[in-house]
Amino acid sequence: MRKKVTVVGAGNVGASVALRIADRELADVVTTDILEGIPQGKGLDILQAGPIVGSDAHIIGTNDYKDTANSDVVVVTAGFPRQPGMSRDDLLMKNYEVVKATTEKIVQYSPNCILILVTNPLDAMCQVALRASGFAKHRVIGMAGILDSARFRTFIAQELNVSVENVSAFVLGGHGDTMVPLVRYSHVAGIPLTELMDAATIARIVQRTRDGGAEIVKYLKTGSAYYAPSAAAVEMVEAILKDKKKILPCAAYLEGEYGIQGLFVGVPAKLGARGIEQIIEVKLTPEEQAALQKSASAVRELVEVIKV
Ligand code: APR
Repeated sequence: MRKKVTVVGAGNVGASVALRIADRELADVVTTDILEGIPQGKGLDILQAGPIVGSDAHIIGTNDYKDTANSDVVVVTAGFPRQPGMSRDDLLMKNYEVVKATTEKIVQYSPNCILILVTNPLDAMCQVALRASGFAKHRVIGMAGILDSARFRTFIAQELNVSVENVSAFVLGGHGDTMVPLVRYSHVAGIPLTELMDAATIARIVQRTRDGGAEIVKYLKTGSAYYAPSAAAVEMVEAILKDKKKILPCAAYLEGEYGIQGLFVGVPAKLGARGIEQIIEVKLTPEEQAALQKSASAVRELVEVIKV
C-alpha cells in the first residue's frame, strides 16, 4: 500500500513540503487550503514535474477534507506567517483558531494519523493540536528543533569552512527567542565545538541561530522562511514513514522529562512508525537546565493565554 501524507496549508511552507515529498517519492500527497484553486493549481504543477524528476507519487490539491481520508501523516502548515518586526508569539490568537479548526477536520477523516505541526508559535500550536485531536501524546509532534539545529550547523560550517555533513549540533527548548543551542553537545567530525572555536565566536553563532528566522523575515518582508522549514518537516515525515527510529530534535509533550510537566518543548526524540517512540534525556549543566526552564516558561505563558 502506498503511504499517504496530507499537507494542510498550500502556502510557502506547505507547497514546499508537498514538493519535497513528491520529488523523493516518499508518499502520495494531498494538499488542502482554505483558498480555492491554490492547492489544486500547485498540486497539478507538482504532479507535472513527476515525469522529469522520475516520481510516480500522486498529488492532488483540494478544499474538501474528505480527500484527506486515511492519511498516515498530516503536516499542518496552515495559518499566518510573520511580517517584519513580529515575533512568532504575535501570531498566537490568529493561528490558534486555524490550527484548532483544521486539526478537528483532519482527525475526523484520518483518526490514525500522526500529526506534525509547523504553524507558529510552534510549541503552543502543538498543544492546541494535542487537545483538539484527542490523540495520545506520541502522535503530535512539532517541527522546530531540526530547523534551528540546521541553522546552527550552517553557521558553524561556514565559520570553519567545512562540510555541513561534518557538523552535528542540536538545539533544545521552545522555538522562539529563548531556544537553547547546546554547545556542549555540538561537534565537528567528532571534535567538540569548543576545541575549534573561541567562546566569542560561539556566542555570536548562537545568537545568529536564535535570530535565524527573523533574519530571513527581514529580507523577505512579506513572510517567513520556507525552504529550510519544509526540509526539516520532510525529514520527520521520512523518519516516520520509513520507521527509521531516527533521533531528531522535535517539540514533544513532556510529562516530567527534563523537569517539565504538561508542555511541548523541543527535546531529542526518537521518531519511528508510532511517532515519538522515545524522548532522550541528556544530562544538562545547571546553566543549560536553567535556560531550558526559561524557554519552557515562555511557552507556558502562551499556552495560558489560550487556555489549552
Ligand atoms: N485552513 C486551511 N488553510 C489555511 C487556513 C485554514 N483555516 N487558514 C490559512 N490557511 C492557509 C493560507 O490560505 C495559506 O495558503 O495557510 C497558508 C499559509 O501559507 P503562507 O501564508 O505562505 O505561510 P507559510 O510561509 O507557509 O507559513 C505557514 O508555518 O512556518 C510557519 O510561521 C509560519 O505559521 C506560519 C506557517
